Amino acid sequence: MKLSVVQGSIQTVKADTIIVNLFEGITTPDGATRAVDQAINGSISDLIDGGDFKGKVGETAVIYPRGLIPARRVVLVGLGKSDDFDLEGVRKVAAAAIRKARELNAKSVATIVHGAGLGGFPVAEAAQATIEGSLLALYRFNAPKQHAEPENEIEELTVVEFDPEKLMDIQIGLANAQAISEGVALARDLVNLPPNVATPSRLAQAAEEIAHQFGMKLTIGDRSWAEERQMGAFLAVAKGAGEEPKFIVLEHNEVQMDLPTVVLVGKGITFDTGGISIKPSERMGEMKSDMGGAAAVLGTMKVVGSLHLPLRVIGVAPATENMPDANAYHPADVITASNGKTIEIISTDAEGRMILADALVFANKYNPDVVIDLATLTGACVVALGEDIAAGIFCNDPRLSESLVAAGTATHERLWPLPLWDDYKKTIKSEVADMKNSGGRSGGVGTSAIFLKEFTNYKWAHLDIAPMALTSKESGYIHVGGTGFGVRLLVEFLRMWE
Ligand code: BES
Ligand code: MN
Ligand code: ZN
Repeated sequence: MKLSVVQGSIQTVKADTIIVNLFEGITTPDGATRAVDQAINGSISDLIDGGDFKGKVGETAVIYPRGLIPARRVVLVGLGKSDDFDLEGVRKVAAAAIRKARELNAKSVATIVHGAGLGGFPVAEAAQATIEGSLLALYRFNAPKQHAEPENEIEELTVVEFDPEKLMDIQIGLANAQAISEGVALARDLVNLPPNVATPSRLAQAAEEIAHQFGMKLTIGDRSWAEERQMGAFLAVAKGAGEEPKFIVLEHNEVQMDLPTVVLVGKGITFDTGGISIKPSERMGEMKSDMGGAAAVLGTMKVVGSLHLPLRVIGVAPATENMPDANAYHPADVITASNGKTIEIISTDAEGRMILADALVFANKYNPDVVIDLATLTGACVVALGEDIAAGIFCNDPRLSESLVAAGTATHERLWPLPLWDDYKKTIKSEVADMKNSGGRSGGVGTSAIFLKEFTNYKWAHLDIAPMALTSKESGYIHVGGTGFGVRLLVEFLRMWE
């Protein structure tokens, strides 16, 4: 899709569809909406006066100007009450309007920036939110169907701004939105691909494309590479895997030691059957999303490269399936991780923390300022926070925690703090090893975090994204399937950090 910014009056633009907006409770439109209203003989005022359009957030109305302006339709979108309006509102409203336009087979769409007028947001941020909301809403997963229904695609999106002084900021917002949306789309695609396609090798291929495109250093470790590094915990999970495991490492600005170093670690279980501690078959298919952390890290690395972020950023994604197999690891096995700590296996279904253990030890070799891991780690986190609401954050540093929570609020990829108290340690105490890999059902999200802590010796945050990686509900700019959760949050964090 062609994306551009032009200076002018939206009512004179040659697009088949133009998008303007209205706050709830406003009886006389102003700005671009007023200009359009006047050009089409007050049709917008008519809608308002007749009570046909309230301006509720995401509400849409379509008006046909019949030759009064070049556009053949006007999509009017409600912004809701001005007091409640925030950048998430901008993204949602942009999504509602562009979805409506696509539904009506629009090919070329022109929009104003939502929220920069009466909304009062900084222009670059409002523009970024408008375009991000639009592009994320237009995302579609390319499903392999022999007889797919032909679907409309919008070919051109133009942002129109009357005030020439705002154009530069809109361009900046547009560039950010475009890069970020591509990263989110990659993360969504990787989660949406079926587990026979999104294998560890396929994740490695995605990493290779990023490395190639942005000149990053790439390491793809196979089984023997992991053996040389004594990654017993990662290899234990990989033992039963039919697909070759891959330990993926992408390095951005790898030689610039003077830059702050952030290591991002993503859980890459390409399918979690539970292994010998096998899961019930009902809804097991959802476990194709168990590489959602790795997908978020790869999506983020793509944005990091594309925006040339001035940080040293290392993306680490240990990737393997968790399968029951003649060679699979067993409950009661005792495994030695790469830092020499031993782990008694209680459940082979607590596999995420196993592969993260070696990845977190590996992260230390970069002498990181901070390490952030993302993992669809526990069902207990879903029980605690609910589906599609927030991810849990565990953190050993208050400033890091605050920055991540703030980035989550700004992007509406929300994080909720959970406790990393040492009291949880007694639940994973083992008679036969340094620790058990599961503390049982109660407090399951806390015990998983305290397990991971045993493998860290730096400023660290663990994000349990199990509630967020996959959704069954269509809403705003989010689609059923992979959400790409984490990419926008991490990019925002990285842009603000130091
Ligand atoms: N991948 C799952 C966690 C999960 C559950 C993610 C639901 C998304 C939705 C993880 O590997 C797992 O199986 N966790 C177990 C841990 C238990 C065995 C200690 C769980 O949550 O039941
Ligand atoms: Mn599991
Ligand atoms: Zn898992």
